[in-house]
Amino acid sequence: MALIELRNISKSFEDTQVLDNFNLTVNENEFITLLGPSGCGKTTTLRIIGGFETPDEGQVFFEGVDITNVPPNKRHLNTVFQKYALFPHMNVEENIAFGLKISGKSDAYIKDKIKYALKLVNLDGFEKRKIDRLSGGQQQRIAMARAIVNEPRVLLLDEPLGALDLKLRQDMQYELIRLKNELGITFIYVTHDQEEALTMSDKVVVMNKGYIQQMGTPEQIYNEPENAFVADFIGDSNIVDGIMVRDKVVKICDTIFPCIDDGFGQNKPVDVVIRPEDLIIGKPGQGHLDGEVVHNVFQGVHYEMEIEAGGFLWLAQNTTSYPVGTKVSLEVEPENIQIMHKPQSEGEEAIEIDV
Ligand SMILES: Nc1ncnc2c1ncn2[C@@H]1O[C@H](COP(=O)(O)OP(=O)(O)OP(=O)(O)O)[C@@H](O)[C@H]1O
Ligand SMILES: [Mg+2]
Repeated sequence: MALIELRNISKSFEDTQVLDNFNLTVNENEFITLLGPSGCGKTTTLRIIGGFETPDEGQVFFEGVDITNVPPNKRHLNTVFQKYALFPHMNVEENIAFGLKISGKSDAYIKDKIKYALKLVNLDGFEKRKIDRLSGGQQQRIAMARAIVNEPRVLLLDEPLGALDLKLRQDMQYELIRLKNELGITFIYVTHDQEEALTMSDKVVVMNKGYIQQMGTPEQIYNEPENAFVADFIGDSNIVDGIMVRDKVVKICDTIFPCIDDGFGQNKPVDVVIRPEDLIIGKPGQGHLDGEVVHNVFQGVHYEMEIEAGGFLWLAQNTTSYPVGTKVSLEVEPENIQIMHKPQSEGEEAIEIDV
């Protein structure tokens, strides 16, 4: 049985529909991430799960029991909000201890827990520090510590690492994964950072404008995006119009490419996704398309280049640098050509992409 289930949830604020017939299941001990652009309904979804927002339609289930009308403090969930609400007049220790005191834990237990939690978030010895004497990132980590000590069945985290610098964010990502494995907590995590989502999650839910665009493992989301929105949102991509001539043959930029997809019919317009790292750069005449390098930047691991070929500006990544002005050819292995049908359903019409 699913641990949490959202069934046919709809939610509007005034005349804006934020969620439209939204369905989601979360399994026990799963790390699930809601990923999508600003305003797509991530926080609203999390608040509905936490009980801080009531859906207009639909139900929320916890272990099969309808909890739609159960108040937040009666749900086995703990939330770290996007705007972490620490008590400014209390010090760090008092903030972390707050929930534990309410649930009647002993002083010794609470002291232990605080020490453990502060170590976990890299703030050893900060017990007596006043909240307003902490940096934004430190406050964010205290908010995490406060949620963790309660050992909830489910942790709802709304962009909890947003205010941290890259190194600390990566450390915290590993800590969270470790917590999940050690404590068996289920995580529902919100971020608009695709890399963070791919690193941490068992399951990623890509959202846009209140609709789920795709749900799957990080590998599925990255390697087999189901539509152009997902492909565009997850990593850099070349998304180009194509015609599926017949099974396993697609025409891109008026050129025939062999691919491995079938079942799209004959001469059907499709979206084609090719990852920048999958473009093979060769000498003119060697590949499918001839073109010219028009932009080149070194990015540490590779060179990122823009190549004009077949009337399209291709984004390519390669460990070899081809200077601006170099005449090249482009080729793609059939299995690296991802074919997607053009948007048809209502949900997909919410997709807006600027290619
Ligand atoms: N209390 C509210 N009253 C009116 N509109 C709201 C309210 N809360 C959210 N909204 C609107 O609902 C939409 C979704 O908001 P939500 O906070 O869920 O987005 P989000 O995906 O979390 O975005 P972000 O990444 O910016 O945090 C937005 O258009 C927002 O303006
Ligand atoms: Mg939000």
